[in-house]
Amino acid sequence: MAALALTLLFLASQFMNLCHGAGIATYWGQHGDEGTLAAACATGNYQYINIAFLTVFGNGRTPELNLAGHCNPSLPGSCSWIGDDVVACQGRGVQVLLSLGGGVGTYSLSSEDDAQQVATYLWNNFLGGSSDSRPLGNAVLDGIDFDIELGSEQNYDALARALSSHSTPQRRVYLSAAPQCPFPDAHLSEAINTGLFDYVWVQFYNNAPCQYANGNADNLLSSWNTWITVNASRVFLGVPAAPGAAGSGFIPSDVLNTEVLPNIRGSMKYGGVMLWSRFYDDGYSTAIRDSVNGGSRSRSRSRLHVSIFGIPIIGNP
Ligand SMILES: *[C@@H]1O[C@H](CO)[C@@H](O)[C@H](O)[C@H]1NC(C)=O
Repeated sequence: MAALALTLLFLASQFMNLCHGAGIATYWGQHGDEGTLAAACATGNYQYINIAFLTVFGNGRTPELNLAGHCNPSLPGSCSWIGDDVVACQGRGVQVLLSLGGGVGTYSLSSEDDAQQVATYLWNNFLGGSSDSRPLGNAVLDGIDFDIELGSEQNYDALARALSSHSTPQRRVYLSAAPQCPFPDAHLSEAINTGLFDYVWVQFYNNAPCQYANGNADNLLSSWNTWITVNASRVFLGVPAAPGAAGSGFIPSDVLNTEVLPNIRGSMKYGGVMLWSRFYDDGYSTAIRDSVNGGSRSRSRSRLHVSIFGIPIIGNP
């Protein structure tokens, strides 16, 4: 009887993880020495990559991409190889989004009209529209990430609605957001409250009140339990990929695997882990990837279906 209950419990937890298709997200683009985007995807460790960042936009500014040493966005064609990498990543089942904002930049949205114009620019230059000056060539990104850390939060809800209006049953424009862990976020709460966001990767670092510190995860877990109440499909635990990746908040991978993930994996909206950033990820994603999924090896959505219909879960845990 106890054995049966345990088996059912095990099956239920595996099923929940499989339904979620939990995975690892990261940011690529802010360090010239982090390798190519295609190489990041070829590790097989990531299910989502945010290209960072579009650092200038809004209020009539000409939008500018900043990709550190990877290419020079002001030279036509200099960054188009990244578009080929995007296509290669998508071929591996990795979703690639363009991240807006970041901690250094010049951006704001002055009105709903302005938000609409930025959405049109993003649609034509990075998504399913067309323009003569697509920085990443013909690659069609999967969506847009909001990493708004500066200025007013006004009109980002309008931007989310305008981007979302381009979604069709055939092709969704995915939206993600990277708020800081103090709740609600000062820059993204209006946008997230639209209910239009697929992924919310919360930054549990550089934020003393809600991050892991001195061997103690209580503040982080209590903040997590608030974040999972937001109106978004999936919530991710954002952490530094190495001690040097952030001022504070680094969690050793063994602690993440044994003391943090087991306490959040069961949340209905648990989506996985976000790592800042690809450059700093020297073994961290490899050390946590099985734990992100609760020990299941089925990570990608394509494998997910095989696992559900074939139910090889019990014989091959
Ligand atoms: C969540 O957002 C969706 C889409 O905007 C909306 O239809 C729904 O009512 C919202 N749910 C809650 C609980 O606010």
